[in-house]
Amino acid sequence: MTDRDKITIPRLVGMKREGRKIAVLTAYSWPIARILDEAGIPVILVGDSVGMVEAGYSTTLPVTMEEMLYHTGCVVRAVKRALVVADMPFMSYQQGTAQAIGSAGRFLKEAGAEAVKLEGGKNVAHIIRALTDVGIPVMGHVGLTPQSVHSMGGYRVQGRTTEEAERIIEDALAVEEAGAFSVVLEGIPAELAREITSRLEIPTIGIGAGPHCDGQVLVVNDLLGLTEKVPGFVKKYANLRELISKAVTEYREDVEEGRFPKDEGC
Ligand code: KIV
Repeated sequence: MTDRDKITIPRLVGMKREGRKIAVLTAYSWPIARILDEAGIPVILVGDSVGMVEAGYSTTLPVTMEEMLYHTGCVVRAVKRALVVADMPFMSYQQGTAQAIGSAGRFLKEAGAEAVKLEGGKNVAHIIRALTDVGIPVMGHVGLTPQSVHSMGGYRVQGRTTEEAERIIEDALAVEEAGAFSVVLEGIPAELAREITSRLEIPTIGIGAGPHCDGQVLVVNDLLGLTEKVPGFVKKYANLRELISKAVTEYREDVEEGRFPKDEGC
């Protein structure tokens, strides 16, 4: 097996056993997914963060199944090697196992995703079990779960008290026990993420959870410098806002001053 071979779920789980860190990014469109895949990103998550970074919502709650199916299809068509995981939007699985199987099935059947992600721990373990029982691979998501923004009272770090930390450990163990192949740990203290990572056999993918997870995930718009305000843990690897602004200003000036198009253009 070479590094250019298709990323499968067993291969991903194997990366943890081999001690290889996993770099996950979100993507929502064909061109960005294409670049990520060509750059060797092994897992692309079509996150419901699309609602906040692409659609201008203030939370992920309004995102619909139809929107997620559309973005997942765009990403799937662009990708040759990465594992594509589709995020299940708010209220597409919370009503019970039949609803969850129906929604998750659409991501695999209609959009071509290879796995789904859903938020929650012990409270959704029965849903994860139902999905994995019918052959739908699931990535869990515990700690700061953005679809519960109102119950959490905002996007706050979770697991700072002993009771909260114990609850998150139990959530992560329940997600693994229910058959998930991986779990996102979001917005929790680094030491708690270290403890969970050492207790699970499946890879932990951290976001705002310190360096001890088996992998990291970032929202691609944040990393590229397209988002105006990013959380403190984000490292900006580029400033596309500035680049795009400069390019379109130059274009506007060229049109206004008659420098574009040239006479010979068609
Ligand atoms: O929606 C999303 O992009 C996510 C990741 C940040 C984990 O859930």
